[in-house]
Amino acid sequence: MQYQLYNDDCLHVLKGIESDCFDVAYLDPPFFTQKTQRLHTRDRLKEYLFRDVWASHAEYVDFLAVRLEQVKRVLKSSGALFFHCDHHASHIVRMLLDHLFGSEHFRSEIIWCYKRWSNPQKNLLPAHQTIYFYTKSDTYHFNHLYQEYSPSTNVDQILQKRERDMFGKAVYARDDQGNIVYGKAKKGVPLSDVWDIPYLNPKATERTGYPTQKPILLVERILEICTDTDHWVLDPFCGSGTTIVAAHLLGRNAVGIDISPEPVSKTLAKQNQDTRQLYKAQKN
Ligand SMILES: C[S@@+](CC[C@H](N)C(=O)[O-])C[C@H]1O[C@@H](n2cnc3c(N)ncnc32)[C@H](O)[C@@H]1O
Repeated sequence: MQYQLYNDDCLHVLKGIESDCFDVAYLDPPFFTQKTQRLHTRDRLKEYLFRDVWASHAEYVDFLAVRLEQVKRVLKSSGALFFHCDHHASHIVRMLLDHLFGSEHFRSEIIWCYKRWSNPQKNLLPAHQTIYFYTKSDTYHFNHLYQEYSPSTNVDQILQKRERDMFGKAVYARDDQGNIVYGKAKKGVPLSDVWDIPYLNPKATERTGYPTQKPILLVERILEICTDTDHWVLDPFCGSGTTIVAAHLLGRNAVGIDISPEPVSKTLAKQNQDTRQLYKAQKN
């Protein structure tokens, strides 16, 4: 697996990349929170931050539009875009993506939901973020993923073969001895657009101390949907390098870009650390 990391504005880096070379782009840019996002490492020795403060919606849209145009250019025609955002600007992002990629190339609105325990504001506890899935064309790479049946599902019954009786009514098939007949093995339930994946808690082993770091499991699932081994993954706002790690774990090649000097060095360090091993061990 190959990976390349750039410490620069992704606009500059993307302009220097040839067209049509990535299978997927995952974008997790600043969300228009109008805050400087900061967090410290577990030992509190280091603080990481990035600025997410904008003069207006228009300024934010302009920032995204020029970078998204480049992302679209470097995607293969079979490629996919996953854009991560939340309630601060999801309404704006959806319109922008419809405009740039074409509303006919919208595929899914993924809701990433998780548990949270407190809400200092006078509204409903925010417990989800949104990931928009678009493709560059109508001919795109897509792997069908399946989830396990819920515990309350009678899987035995689902696996039983069905046939029509003499009145055309669907019934469970029986052999000559009256035994149940099983059909083809089922793969499970097709993956839905609502993903319940835990938010990184302060004690999570994969936590680097980078603000708004996303779970590896979340990005892995995205990559599994639209890439195979040896495919190329782009993350122009790579932060702590979650996408690079997920790509590495799945045997994909990756390019990560971030404007802050810290994240890129963090990513490099992380490549060689136990984190991935720990993560693997937890998963198995
Ligand atoms: C939401 S964070 C990404 C977090 C990342 N997905 C992770 O799991 O760690 C957004 C990142 O965008 C970066 N960023 C902001 N403006 C940028 C630009 N013009 N070019 C590249 N990176 C930028 C910030 O430094 C920050 O690391």
